[in-house]
Amino acid sequence: MAAPLTEPERQHYFIARLKDYFSANADGAKAAEPAGGTGCAKAAVPAGGAAPKAAVVTFGCQMNARDSEKLEGILSEIGFEMTDDEAGADFVAFNTCTVRENANEHLYGRLGRLKQSKKADPDKIVSVCGCMMQETDEIEKLKVKYPYVDIIFGTHNLFTFPELLFTMLRKRGGSIDEVYTHGKTVLKSSADDAARLEKLLRYGSGKSNMKDIEKLCRKPVISVWKDSSDIVEKLPSKRKYSFKQGINIMFGCDNFCSYCIVPYVRGREKSRAPEEIYDEIRKCAAEGVKEIMLLGQNVNSYKGISAGADATMSFAELLKNIDDMCDEIGIERVRFMTSHPKDLSDELIEVMAASKHVCHQFHLPMQSGSDPILKRMNRHYDKERFLDRAAKLKAAMPDISISTDIIVGFPGETEEDFRETLDVVKKVRFDSAFTFIYSKREGTPAAGFEDQVSEEEVKDRFDRLLEVQNRIVDENLDRMLGGTYRVLFEEVSEYDPKLITGKLENSITVHVPGDVSLIGSIREVRLTENHRFYFTGELV
Ligand code: 5AD
Ligand code: SF4
Repeated sequence: MAAPLTEPERQHYFIARLKDYFSANADGAKAAEPAGGTGCAKAAVPAGGAAPKAAVVTFGCQMNARDSEKLEGILSEIGFEMTDDEAGADFVAFNTCTVRENANEHLYGRLGRLKQSKKADPDKIVSVCGCMMQETDEIEKLKVKYPYVDIIFGTHNLFTFPELLFTMLRKRGGSIDEVYTHGKTVLKSSADDAARLEKLLRYGSGKSNMKDIEKLCRKPVISVWKDSSDIVEKLPSKRKYSFKQGINIMFGCDNFCSYCIVPYVRGREKSRAPEEIYDEIRKCAAEGVKEIMLLGQNVNSYKGISAGADATMSFAELLKNIDDMCDEIGIERVRFMTSHPKDLSDELIEVMAASKHVCHQFHLPMQSGSDPILKRMNRHYDKERFLDRAAKLKAAMPDISISTDIIVGFPGETEEDFRETLDVVKKVRFDSAFTFIYSKREGTPAAGFEDQVSEEEVKDRFDRLLEVQNRIVDENLDRMLGGTYRVLFEEVSEYDPKLITGKLENSITVHVPGDVSLIGSIREVRLTENHRFYFTGELV
């Protein structure tokens, strides 16, 4: 008996079938409807030979951005051309974020705006995936309020997207018998639908009967896995930038900070094998990538295992190995994010300081400076330990730039707690801080805490924090003014086509007069003007 297909083989099989489907339609012919179809399926592609267009809209963090590149890779292989025009696209995917309430609202706004174009072109395919889809309530809401969504899938089974798209097209054609059901699927198209369709089809093609059939055929295909222990490698991926690339080293989070929904929607920590990571870096380098960003929810707890090895590798070891291979393969800069302060080891600091290519930049999310609040947040460090980690980073690398995340208004936060946060901000003098107002996430422990802080107090503290932090950023930038630094040029400035925008090693943006030939290169730049959040400069 032949061995069962591996997951990548299985998905490549569906990619090949979808490629056939869309190319058969691209010459203007009608959709190649599956045998026994009802007539409901129409070509989801433009007539006249033009390639179908796909828009992938990404919300949230770098991990999501990387997932979207994987979706785009699959879509490109099927034959789609990418576009930013959601309304005009034949296929739209929203890759969602749910870390704070306003991230959810973003999705609903965008979906609402799509309603008209879906009405004008019912064959357009609308898909929603990502972290928000790991929440059952959100899926139910989509089903009721946005019934024009065709495909819903989660973070753990993004790689099954070819199979789901194929299933959806078959379903539109009335072949509901092939609806995908996977052992791990927690929400799926109901098996009852298949039986109902069978019945309707037997009644023939009366007008109201056909309407019911059409409705059934257009119910969304939903497949969301609760968790997954596997990492599926070797599927297509498209790169957004030619010169820089995010590389997943691990997935998920085991920390369960009491305010955070991420462990529930991204699942348990899983580390990629070092060799898979090295292979991907080598491949990027061969394609001209200059800068890589190692990605994980908590890179400091990386525990990869090499084939045949009996011990796991730490993040510090992995980073050292990557730094060592950079010269040979031509990678200039290595970055990573995010790090949990509780797991930031001395070994990692030593590796960074001794490295040749690892940027002297560290994202160290503090969340709060108050010990009782940190305890209630389940962060497993206190103010002193945080200050010690920041001091150690600065002692080892005096030019290091440290950024952070801060939550204001966590339940129970008093004025005194908030002052502790301000105190750390003033002591560490972060080069940048992402400041968030606490957002209650149902299902997390903090959602059940009773002493929520009033809106006015939160707003007042948030404004005061920004004022202090902005002043520090300004002073830090002033100190760099006039100096010469290496800049990786990324794109033509959004505001002035005569300027090219690049990034310093510490991620600060610089605009420099120049032309597109600079893009992708690293050059020395003198910083001439501090615009508070960015610099202008000139090539030296
Ligand atoms: N409310 C506000 N901010 C949050 N973050 C995570 N969960 C919440 C929440 N419920 C912030 C943290 C984290 C960043 C990615 O998002 O600061 O570091
Ligand atoms: Fe959320 Fe904490 Fe995990 Fe970061 S470390 S993803 S804040 S649970």
